[in-house]
Amino acid sequence: MISTEELFEQVVVYPDFEYKERLSELIGLEDHKSRLSKILSLLVNPSGLDLWQKQYHPSAVTILNYILKRPPLVVLEGDVGSGKSELALTIADTVARQENIEINLFPLSLSTRGEGRVGQMTQLVSAAFEHTLQHAEKLKNQSGSSRGAVILLVDEADALTQSRENSQMHHEDKAGVNAFIRGIDRLGNGKLPAAVIMCTNRVSSLDPAIKRRAADILKFDRPNDAERKLVLEKPLKEVGLTTDQISEIVKLTGPKNGRDFGFTFSDLVQRLLPTIVLDAYPDTAIMFDRALEITKSLAPTPPFKESHG
Ligand SMILES: Nc1ncnc2c1ncn2[C@@H]1O[C@H](COP(=O)(O)OP(=O)(O)OP(=O)(O)O)[C@@H](O)[C@H]1O
Ligand SMILES: [Mg+2]
Repeated sequence: MISTEELFEQVVVYPDFEYKERLSELIGLEDHKSRLSKILSLLVNPSGLDLWQKQYHPSAVTILNYILKRPPLVVLEGDVGSGKSELALTIADTVARQENIEINLFPLSLSTRGEGRVGQMTQLVSAAFEHTLQHAEKLKNQSGSSRGAVILLVDEADALTQSRENSQMHHEDKAGVNAFIRGIDRLGNGKLPAAVIMCTNRVSSLDPAIKRRAADILKFDRPNDAERKLVLEKPLKEVGLTTDQISEIVKLTGPKNGRDFGFTFSDLVQRLLPTIVLDAYPDTAIMFDRALEITKSLAPTPPFKESHG
């Protein structure tokens, strides 16, 4: 069997202050954060729902079954650089603190893996679920809350179905999807303190059997005017730009001039801001005029095309 070290880039253990900070830096995702942390809390620790029920709805039994029976899968779907991976990597900190348990996250990125040898994707997916299952079994308590929980993060999950159009890969492709579905079902049936987060750029290409199993599908978009302002305001104010100047830059990073999409979150924080800094470094201060020119010269990452692939 493939070892943990070979499978996962880096196992993350929560609570961890670094991840708490990173989570708090995400902008415009309050609703997603709240929904995701509630879903995960209940998946990893269903007894929380019992307490809630006893307090608010002592006679309610039926309605709870519908939530507790959901498969332990949440899908994060949407445009590039919109915070899917970052939220998936950091949200467990909130859950760990809320539930007062330790959570381990196993991150499996399918984009860089699973190419090449026939059957490799299936093997990877099966091994990842097997590790998750074994780990979760150790944490399960016979009664009440679990002693800890596991989250399997399947990132860049497009690769699971991407090769569908390629007939040569068809068989292997389907096998990978089946391994995934089997894994979800095993985790769910075992009532284990475990959950799976899957990130994908295009939910439309996901297998219907996977989509059907998702307890929730959270959609991620590019930042609107207010959100781009939230991202840019603090760092640009701190280097001396005025509110009006910042507004101008915010406007330029939005949809304009026949282009119907603006900058992504990652375009703003990983390209625009660093470019502005490096342009001034090491000999001058950051000037508005240069910042403006740089903003005009950068093009936002084109949206992920559904037809591509
Ligand atoms: N909502 C956000 N608020 C602040 N920064 C963000 C936000 N979303 C993304 N970023 C920044 O962009 C970087 C890339 O985001 P992330 O890796 O989560 O994108 P993604 O949605 O997984 O994209 P892809 O589909 O390309 O994998 C993050 O590390 C973070 O710095
Ligand atoms: Mg990502």
